[in-house]
Amino acid sequence: MTVAENTGNQSPFDKVLKLGVGAVDLPDIEFQPYQPDLRRGVQIHVLFDNKPGDPKGSDAALIRYEPGAFTPRHLHMGYEMVFVLQGEYVENDITYLPGSLIVRAPGTTHEMRSNPGCTILAMRDIPVKQLT
Ligand SMILES: [Fe+2]
Repeated sequence: MTVAENTGNQSPFDKVLKLGVGAVDLPDIEFQPYQPDLRRGVQIHVLFDNKPGDPKGSDAALIRYEPGAFTPRHLHMGYEMVFVLQGEYVENDITYLPGSLIVRAPGTTHEMRSNPGCTILAMRDIPVKQLT
C-alpha cells in the first residue's frame, strides 16, 4: 500500500476504519457513465437518489473507477461514507484497499483516482459542492 501526504483538508470527525473483509464479487449489474464532463473513467450504479425530489437529498451508489480514472476535488456539505469493495481507491493521495471504510465530515474536500481500477460503495447525506 502506498501512503503519501494527505493534501485534502481534514476534520476531527473524519474516520477511516480498516474492516477485515477481502475483495467482494459483485453481481452482474449495469453501470452508467457518471458525470463524464467532470470525471474521467468513472461509472455509477445508483442504489437510491433522493435529489430529484429534494436538492439537498441523500444518495447512494456503487461507483466503478476504470484504470486511470479520476474525480476532481469537491467539498462535502454533509457526511460522505465510502466503503472500498474492489481494487485500489486513492483519495487525497492515500491508497485504500478493500475493506476500508472512509467517513468524511462536512467541510472536508477530496479528489479521487485509481490506477488499476476499483469499485466503491458511496453514500452522501447532502450533495457535494464541486470545486473545479
Ligand atoms: Fe466526496
